[in-house]
Amino acid sequence: MNTKCQFYFNTIIGEHSKMHDIYHTIKTNTSSDDPILIEGESGSGKELIAQAFHFESPRKDNPFIPVDCAAIPNEIAESTLFGHKKGAFTNAVSDYKGKFLLAQNGTLFLDNIQNLSLGIQAKILRAIENKKVWQLGSTEPTKTNIRIITASNVKLSTLISQKKFLLDLFYRLNDIKISLPPLRERVSDIPLLVNYFLREKSILSEALEYLLKYEFKGNVRELILIIKKAIRFSDNSVIKLNDILKAISEIKLEPICDLTLENICQLACSKGLYELENEIITYTYNNSKSYAKTATKLNITEGTVRQKLKKLLPEIS
Ligand SMILES: Nc1ncnc2c1ncn2[C@@H]1O[C@H](COP(=O)(O)OP(=O)(O)OP(=O)(O)O)[C@@H](O)[C@H]1O
Ligand SMILES: [Mg+2]
Repeated sequence: MNTKCQFYFNTIIGEHSKMHDIYHTIKTNTSSDDPILIEGESGSGKELIAQAFHFESPRKDNPFIPVDCAAIPNEIAESTLFGHKKGAFTNAVSDYKGKFLLAQNGTLFLDNIQNLSLGIQAKILRAIENKKVWQLGSTEPTKTNIRIITASNVKLSTLISQKKFLLDLFYRLNDIKISLPPLRERVSDIPLLVNYFLREKSILSEALEYLLKYEFKGNVRELILIIKKAIRFSDNSVIKLNDILKAISEIKLEPICDLTLENICQLACSKGLYELENEIITYTYNNSKSYAKTATKLNITEGTVRQKLKKLLPEIS
């Protein structure tokens, strides 16, 4: 049985029909330069899909430039993306091309685009529409020839109504839309992924059964980590349930216990406020299993809790 999709650059594991639809979209859009928007939960493989689009395209010999927009402080976002000339601002000690121009003739992958401010979003929209970028301190714009792929781990459409994402940019980015399913929506792919990452090792059926029921919050990235650790714990070439349990206990997420404002802010900066809010509501609900108690504890309305959980935990509504 063919269990993987071998692209020029990488191997994407998955036989679920939703994955096949994605492979089909990749293969039928190789020569197009239309922007691509990839939505999917954390660790579900968005960068892998973006790489496949690039390395299947005629741009494959030119740069693929990934940018984690969540990691760029707002004050330097413009110069990071569009570049600057020496002396454009106090710390500009030398010229910097910027990510757009580094991706010239290739592909620019803007991951976590939802984390950029509305001001920067507007500048990206202008750069895409004009096919030009203005480096800070430069009097002339530079023409660009770049394919833009963006990714988000939240649905951008939900952010538009909250005025956190520009509608015009959303339309511009959304030519080709990929909705990458989380592992819980393609459980039948878990054994294939496990075997692929186990390489020459094997796994007992009860250990695999456990993984089939396990709630992967970090999707494929979490699965890889569990398998790596389980291999380390195993005393021979066969992975047992206990090896998996030990691996999982090592990566168990601890509830927030040191609630200083600084810690909360750090957490919010690394995850994004929206994601943190979702996690807090889910965590509180999972502890009480009650909409009313969750609402009281968090001092929000029960309606808000229901509305949020409908999206976050569709299986309970
Ligand atoms: N279908 C798959 N087959 C093989 N490996 C995969 C698959 N999906 C994801 N991976 C691997 O899982 C890890 C996480 O994938 P990736 O970085 O693409 O996720 P992401 O959706 O971009 O995550 P984030 O939301 O954190 O940016 C990578 O090591 C990637 O190679
Ligand atoms: Mg990513």
